[in-house]
Amino acid sequence: MRFDVNAQVRDLPDVPPWESLLSVLRDRLGLYGAKNACEQGECGSCTVLLEGAPVCACLVPAARAAEREVVTIEGLDDDVLATSVREAIRRCGGVQCGFCTPGFVVSATATLRRDPCLAKTDLPEALSGNLCRCTGYRKILQAVEDVARPGEGVGGSDER
Ligand code: FES
Ligand code: FES
Repeated sequence: MRFDVNAQVRDLPDVPPWESLLSVLRDRLGLYGAKNACEQGECGSCTVLLEGAPVCACLVPAARAAEREVVTIEGLDDDVLATSVREAIRRCGGVQCGFCTPGFVVSATATLRRDPCLAKTDLPEALSGNLCRCTGYRKILQAVEDVARPGEGVGGSDER
């Protein structure tokens, strides 16, 4: 099967079509940024972008991801918006154990790219697919709100 992951084409033999995209990324490609927690689509720790849309990689069969563009947290290293989100979460104290952080960064980046001026009141629902056991969410939401705030920082610029 052929995968387009982080702008690199990877040909992987012997991938059964039902194997999860998460397993392909972690176990075959060594991309450990997407975390494996519930494997049931409940926690969002495995969030990646499939054709630009956030998905739980644990729920996506390999056959559905083949020949389509997949971007993981590693592929967002140089992304201006993702960097702003990551920095804001760190600055606001939204990282404790860090297990949920990659999923939040991927989800928040996709959310803000879709709606750069997302209303504060819409943020909890927009990020409701991502669970955090440590922080109580307030600091993470504050961080994403800071990036989204129109007219300030990267969230209000045209750089994305
Ligand atoms: S590991 Fe995929 S949603 Fe929890
Ligand atoms: S920081 Fe530990 S799960 Fe979110």
